[in-house]
Amino acid sequence: MNNKLKYFIETWGCQMNEEDSEKLSGMLKLKNYSRVISKEEADIIIFNTCAVRENAEQKVFGNLGQLKHLKKKNPKLIIAISGCMMQQPGVAEELAKKFPFVNIIIGTHNAYKFPKYLNRIINGEKQIVDIWNNEGEIIEGLPVDRLSSVKAFVTIMYGCNNFCTYCIVPYVRGRERSRTPEDIEKEIKELVAKGYKEITLLGQNVNSYGKGLKPEINFAKLLRRINNIEGLERIRFMTSHPKDLSQELIDTIAECDKLCEHIHLPFQSGSTKILKKMNRHYTREQYLDLVYRIKKAIPNVALTTDIIVGFPGETEEDFNDTLSLVKEVEYDSAFTFLYSKRNGTPAAKYEDQIPENIKHERFNRLVEVVNEISKKKNKEYEDKIVEVLVESPSKTDPSKLTGRTRTSKLVNFKGDHKNIGKLVNVKITEAKSFSLIGEEV
Ligand code: 5AD
Ligand code: SF4
Repeated sequence: MNNKLKYFIETWGCQMNEEDSEKLSGMLKLKNYSRVISKEEADIIIFNTCAVRENAEQKVFGNLGQLKHLKKKNPKLIIAISGCMMQQPGVAEELAKKFPFVNIIIGTHNAYKFPKYLNRIINGEKQIVDIWNNEGEIIEGLPVDRLSSVKAFVTIMYGCNNFCTYCIVPYVRGRERSRTPEDIEKEIKELVAKGYKEITLLGQNVNSYGKGLKPEINFAKLLRRINNIEGLERIRFMTSHPKDLSQELIDTIAECDKLCEHIHLPFQSGSTKILKKMNRHYTREQYLDLVYRIKKAIPNVALTTDIIVGFPGETEEDFNDTLSLVKEVEYDSAFTFLYSKRNGTPAAKYEDQIPENIKHERFNRLVEVVNEISKKKNKEYEDKIVEVLVESPSKTDPSKLTGRTRTSKLVNFKGDHKNIGKLVNVKITEAKSFSLIGEEV
């Protein structure tokens, strides 16, 4: 095979997976391979999978089925699967048997070895299945092929120790481990030197950053260090676990100019009884108190959240607690999920599972309330002038530009295309449910 192989990557799931895909792509680019956007053109197809909910898994099975005919047409096609779904016991073996034409199956802990596995396949091996159960050392210095040249994701910690009873992540991503502040700063400074203006710090629970590092550091202190990096304009982070969001962190966000006024703060359920069953370690009242303190310290803050509907044992009363919490906090937007049973998690064994029709009915009621509030929050922006970081031409109308406010609102606006990568002021002329329309001023 020649040196100019073309690869296609499809990513399911969260920002962490997106970042992993950027690393897979970075490693392949380093080998001079080129990325293509259609499977038909590719010599290598990679599926980077997610395990958080069942429907993400079903999509992978569906997509793999479709690859069979591509492999028939091009027997040299190399197919690889990586990511969280592969880390679940038995899944990799099942896939290897069901889809014998898949060449490489790896997990989350050994993705950095991908080029080595690829070489073995190029040299004639038919199938490699290698899943590591332990997280091992953090691998620094991997090349990253970033999708944007304006904003970048920077992972600050891997894994999760929380074991929320519905969640598969601690089983597939391993225990918490933090990168050193020096490694993080070095990466961000390199990004700034390349012209990046905004970074989003990533971790399953960034608020517990730094545990076990010597000398001692916590997330608030890390943020203060990053805030001093010259040339960087905006800092974001996700995800925050409410139980670990300290007053020190709230004050830090309020005081540091580069920290954007947006916090993604999943509450999952508004019922203290359900929160307990979820193993979330906070009550409804504690969560609301936290929101109150955040709003007091950061007056124009945007809050977004994740909500699960139909967790085992959720009664109509519990669900109403979720609805009333949404109304009380008034989220700018929310990701709403139907509870999905994940094998290996404690909640999957609970006997009081909620029937699908009830889950769906509650879900629809919740989405209606969430959307109404989102629209109302967006309306507050009409006729205001906001700072937007210009990302690219707008997808729907390339004569326009697209970018985000500090509060993470998507804005499509008329403006000068020379300003891509810069901060501009935009007057908002119209608020839609999920975006704002405006003009550069
Ligand atoms: N079912 C439904 N939603 C889930 N999430 C995590 N696990 C599940 C599950 N089993 C949601 C949570 C989390 C988000 C990333 O995904 O709301 O915050
Ligand atoms: Fe899953 Fe809970 Fe960890 Fe988030 S904090 S990744 S929901 S176990």
